[in-house]
Amino acid sequence: IWFTGLSGEGKTTTAEVLALLLLEYGRAPTVLDGDVVRTHLSKGLGFSKEDRDANILRIGFVASEIARHGGTVICAAVSPYQAARDEARQMVGADHFIEVYVDTPIEECERRDTKGMYARARRGEITGFTGIDDPYEPPPAPELTLDTTSFSAEDNARRIIALLTERGFIPQAEYALAEAQSGD
Ligand code: ADX
Repeated sequence: IWFTGLSGEGKTTTAEVLALLLLEYGRAPTVLDGDVVRTHLSKGLGFSKEDRDANILRIGFVASEIARHGGTVICAAVSPYQAARDEARQMVGADHFIEVYVDTPIEECERRDTKGMYARARRGEITGFTGIDDPYEPPPAPELTLDTTSFSAEDNARRIIALLTERGFIPQAEYALAEAQSGD
């Protein structure tokens, strides 16, 4: 499950709720969050196009290994470039890749500004900030688009669960519960 969207629009929060919900289906997901990945796997990378692409391809590579072994992985990075997201999709396998576009207007991200980054970008203290003076390419055909202004993180995570169920990645809730209770 690959989240994409501007900084501060709710990728991490939704990913965390989704990770908890997936446990109920017997799926313990790995979460590869941009901010966290950048403290180890992508330490030293900056925010040029080249570095962002390298970051996304590293995340894509790890995700593909996890998926290849039957695991579940949630990726949550800005991932502003369509070509890099498509490459991640290819690495993971297109039929196992759920691209989730968290479509929060920049005005709303800026209003929340949980990390104070937008204010710093506006003051020119950070340059090349996505959505301010760096591009974000919205996905033309995501599997799902989420609205975080009208819906809670839990509502949105449940929409993803519904899609995963519909596509056969996880069983229907009643079935999952019965399996858990029977100890299978
Ligand atoms: S990505 O472009 O390579 O996918 P990633 O998700 O790892 O980005 O990191 C984005 C996070 O880094 C943001 O949430 C923000 O906190 C921080 N950040 C620092 N500088 C920038 C920048 N120039 N553009 C976007 N995010 C930045």
